[in-house]
Amino acid sequence: MDNKLNKKLFGDDFAWGVSTAAFQTEGACTKDGKGRSIWDEFTSKKGKVLNGETAETACDFYHRYREDIDLIKQMNIPNFRFSIAWTRILPNGEGEVNQLGIDHYNNVINYCLEQGIEPWVTIYHWDLPQALEAKGGWTNREIVGWFTNYATICAQYFGDRVKHWMVMNEPGVFTGAGYFLGLHAPGRTGLRNYLPTIHHTVLSIVSAAKQLRYVLPDATIGTTFSCSHIEPYSQKTRDINAANRVDALLNRLFIEPLLGLGYPMNEVTALKGINKYILPGDEANMTFDFDFIGIQNYTREIVKFSLFTPYVYARLVKAVKRNVPTTLMGWEVHPPALYQVLKQFAAYRPDKPIYITENGVAFEDTLSDEGILDTERVEFLQTHISEVLKAKNEGVNVKGYFVWTLTDNFEWAEGYHPRFGLIHVDFKTQRRTIKASGRWYGKFLKGDS
Ligand code: NOJ
Repeated sequence: MDNKLNKKLFGDDFAWGVSTAAFQTEGACTKDGKGRSIWDEFTSKKGKVLNGETAETACDFYHRYREDIDLIKQMNIPNFRFSIAWTRILPNGEGEVNQLGIDHYNNVINYCLEQGIEPWVTIYHWDLPQALEAKGGWTNREIVGWFTNYATICAQYFGDRVKHWMVMNEPGVFTGAGYFLGLHAPGRTGLRNYLPTIHHTVLSIVSAAKQLRYVLPDATIGTTFSCSHIEPYSQKTRDINAANRVDALLNRLFIEPLLGLGYPMNEVTALKGINKYILPGDEANMTFDFDFIGIQNYTREIVKFSLFTPYVYARLVKAVKRNVPTTLMGWEVHPPALYQVLKQFAAYRPDKPIYITENGVAFEDTLSDEGILDTERVEFLQTHISEVLKAKNEGVNVKGYFVWTLTDNFEWAEGYHPRFGLIHVDFKTQRRTIKASGRWYGKFLKGDS
C-alpha cells in the first residue's frame, strides 16, 4: 500500500464518493408503472449484449437500496452519485407523472440523508423512454422540450433535498455508441443520426441546466464528460493529426460548444454537417456556466492514421497489441491518463471546479476463503488517486473523486462480465460481499491509511 497516500492531503472540502446508474443497477424494469426505455428494448434484441444478458433484475437496487446505502456508509463514503430513470418518472417520456416513481427516488434520497450520505443526482444516464425514441429520440429537435420538462420535474420534486446535480452522463458515449456506431441503444448508425443527435444533446443540456438554475437557484449544477488521454502512435505528422481528430471527437466535442467555443469542425470536417441543424438563435442557447465540470476517465488511447476509417481517418491501437497491462474491458491501465485529462480540462477555465465523477476498473475477481482479494483494483485506485493529488498540487482545481462503481453491475453491451464494483454481487443470490478494494477505500476515507 502506498503509505504516502492520505486523505488529509486533499483537504477537508474534497468530495469523496461512489457512482452508479439506474439502468445498470435497479432492475425492476416494469415495476410500479415504469415505462420502457431504449435500453429495455435494446437488451431484448438478439445479439446486442454479450451472452444475451438483460438488466431485468441487475443488482435489484430498486428493492435493495437500503442495504446498498448501508454498505456505502459502512465504507465511510460520504457522497453517492446515482441517476434517475426517466421512465419511472414519466413512463412515456412526457405527460403524467408516475407518483410511484417519485416515491422511489424520494425513498432513496431520504435514506441517503438519514444515513448522512449526500446524494448527487444524474438526470440522464442513457435510458431514454422508448416512446420518445419512437418519435425520433435524440434526432428529433423536440427532445429539447421533452428533456427540459423531465429535468424540471426532477428539480421540482427532489430539489429541496438534492443539492448536487449532473444534467447528463457522458454525452460523447451515448451519442457515438448509440447513434453512430449502433453498439449501444438505440442501435442507430451513420452521420444522418449522429449529427442531429449531437446538436440536440447540446441544446438539451443547456436548456435543462437553465431550468434547474431557475427552479433551484442555490443548487450546484454540473454535467459529466467521458475523457481519455490521447497520444499519437508516432511523431509522424499523419499520426499526430489523426490523434488530434480523435481528441476532438472523444474529448472536445461536447465541452467546447458548451463553453462557447463551438464544435471542433476544423479537426473533423464531417462535423460540418451539424451546421444544417443549427438554427438561427441557437448559438445563444448552446452555452451554460456550469458550477462544475465532471470528468470520467478510464484509460488512454494511442492513435494511428488509417485510410480505412471514414470521417476520422484514424484508428485506436488496441492495448493488447501494445504489450501493456489491460483491464477486462481491454483498456490499458495507465494512471497518468487521469492527470493528463485533468490538466487538459482544467486549461479551459482554470477556476472552474472539476470533479472526477467516475474512475474505476473491471478485473477478473476471484472469490477465495478470504473474500475477494482484488489487489489489482486497490492498486488501480491508489495510483489513480495519486495522479489526482499530483494535479491538485500543481494547481488544478479538482474538488472530488468518485469511484465507478458501488456494486458489480450491468455493463451495457458487455453484460455482467466486466465487474467494476467495490462490492461483489452474486447475481444468482444477490448476495453482496465487500471486496478488498472496498475495504481499502473505507479505510482510506476513515483516514487510516
Ligand atoms: C462510463 C459510464 O458512465 C458507465 O455507465 C460505465 O459503466 C462506465 N463508464 C464503465 O464502462
